[in-house]
Amino acid sequence: MSRLLAASVTLPTSTIPIFRTVASLREWRRKAYLEQKSVGFVATMGALHDGHISLLKHSLSRNDLTVLSIFVNPAQFAPTEDLSTYPRTLEADLALLEQTKVPEPSTESERITSAIFMPTVQDMYPSGITQDVSGQKGTFIEVKGYGHQMEGGSRPGFFRGVATVVTKLFNAVEPTDTYFGQKDIQQGLLLRRMCRDLLLSHPEPGHLHIMPTVRSPVDGLALSSRNAYLSPNDRKHASSLYATLNVCKDAWRDLRDKNLAIEKALAYLKERSSAAEADGVLIKPDYIHMNDPDTFDDVQTYEEGKAVILSGAMWVGKTRLIDNIILGNAEGILG
Ligand code: PAJ
Repeated sequence: MSRLLAASVTLPTSTIPIFRTVASLREWRRKAYLEQKSVGFVATMGALHDGHISLLKHSLSRNDLTVLSIFVNPAQFAPTEDLSTYPRTLEADLALLEQTKVPEPSTESERITSAIFMPTVQDMYPSGITQDVSGQKGTFIEVKGYGHQMEGGSRPGFFRGVATVVTKLFNAVEPTDTYFGQKDIQQGLLLRRMCRDLLLSHPEPGHLHIMPTVRSPVDGLALSSRNAYLSPNDRKHASSLYATLNVCKDAWRDLRDKNLAIEKALAYLKERSSAAEADGVLIKPDYIHMNDPDTFDDVQTYEEGKAVILSGAMWVGKTRLIDNIILGNAEGILG
């Protein structure tokens, strides 16, 4: 199967309707308006796991209808990144979606995903798309001042690609409410700001919900589609990132000094890296940052209860993992 699915490609069968064009989805959406049904929306790039499914269940339990999109968005991958190898597991994804049900309030029935939106690259990018930003033509969305810190510091252009595709998805689905994961905290907060700045009504900014990260119950590793890249040996050491963030969290509370807290966390990660090396696994930190959730500015000084995003990224072999913890009061960020 072609890596960039064309409209003509035969899909595995599914009992849930799959829409491959914006026009067909719009027809479905018009009916939902006429029936005055609320429409929840979960945007994904596929390779679904329990993190995606938890967002889906939130949407199913709070909305009459739910749309889930699967679209691997070329615009958010730099030319050097893993667009062509990004995990694509469509058959398993559809099976998982068919199995995911929640009880419908005050009835005996159950709710299941109402529609799967799987647009083609041509449909999503009518002016065409190249991963090289300097060669791009057409309309792109940039949330200025909020895309260059944390994850954006390591992946220039990434949030421009995300904001652009999510705007298009919102325009196609016109969701009442939408659900994003804390695992990609900068993404969720930046998109909420984008809804506000662009005066979007579907969704309104307060209807973009950020839900807690789903983790492995064994060692706390945040679930991610990219975890599929980890070899069994890599996997043994992948939880070092979350453990390092927790060391940083405790040090921040005890020492109340950002530089000292990050220093302590990096020293801990160095110890974990030595243990990994003995197993033939190379661990390399990318960043650990502490930022204000509203401005994304670096946080310097400790303030009791004040919310801070503690985020990190690291390489385990050839796989890049990200994670974060919200320190202080997460009210107004999650939910
Ligand atoms: P993807 O990585 O597939 O993630 C889709 C959604 O699932 C995002 O909101 C992400 O934060 C959430 N998610 C991923 N892992 C999670 C976990 N362990 N716990 C809770 N939620 C989790 O994020 C993207 O796709 C893309 O950038 C997208 C928004 C679809 C735009 O292309």
